[in-house]
Amino acid sequence: MGKITVTINGSQVSGSDGMTILDAAQEHGIDIPTLCHSPELTPIGACRICVVEVEGSKTLVGACHTPITQGMVIYTHSPKVVETRKVIVELLLASHCGSCFMCDKANVCELRKIAADLEVGLPRFRVKKRYYPIEDVSPYVVRDLSKCILCRRCVRACNEVAKQNVFSVAYRGFDSKVVVDFDQAIDKDVCRDCDVCISFCPTGALSKVKKLGEEKKGKPLVITG
Ligand code: SF4
Ligand code: SF4
Ligand code: FES
Repeated sequence: MGKITVTINGSQVSGSDGMTILDAAQEHGIDIPTLCHSPELTPIGACRICVVEVEGSKTLVGACHTPITQGMVIYTHSPKVVETRKVIVELLLASHCGSCFMCDKANVCELRKIAADLEVGLPRFRVKKRYYPIEDVSPYVVRDLSKCILCRRCVRACNEVAKQNVFSVAYRGFDSKVVVDFDQAIDKDVCRDCDVCISFCPTGALSKVKKLGEEKKGKPLVITG
């Protein structure tokens, strides 16, 4: 594999052919937030939270799916990058109608962590919220799509890791939605003893069915601003 030298935030670092900007940054201890990305899944560049500035590029580029090239000059935390990430998180939170106070995944929610890291409090925008009824017909998976950020990690995890094909994405624009069959509630025997999609979901949109007497484990999120 050929060696490639790039400059990240003013420091020269080396990587190899085929590495993405995210790989090179992570290898050198530079943290770039991600939501739709998972190292075990095919990158799709859906969420744009990983954007970085690259000298010579007119637009910000997605670090998780852009390969490094020789001599690339990258800024992972420039003011423009940080402001863009904040807007992305604010828009996600603004359309997210799940209550972080009540969410079992509050402790481990990746969206909540990124919002806290970027010091995003109450969203400045008023956008339409996505309301969906909780789907709890399956004995294995509960879906609360009001908390879904359309990262499609569940779609890819089910397909690439669990080797099933339960989910797809339907509708367009604001109405885009991860669906099962012809937009039916999830209730599949193949989900028995699986849980793969649940472990890949970055928010509280997918969870296991609670057994009788199970306690809530989430900690409340305090939103300031
Ligand atoms: S539980 Fe497994 S089989 Fe069922 S939807 Fe999730 S990943 Fe697919
Ligand atoms: S259900 Fe979870 S994993 Fe699937 S698209 Fe929504 S947020 Fe992503
Ligand atoms: S993490 Fe890169 S586009 Fe979503």
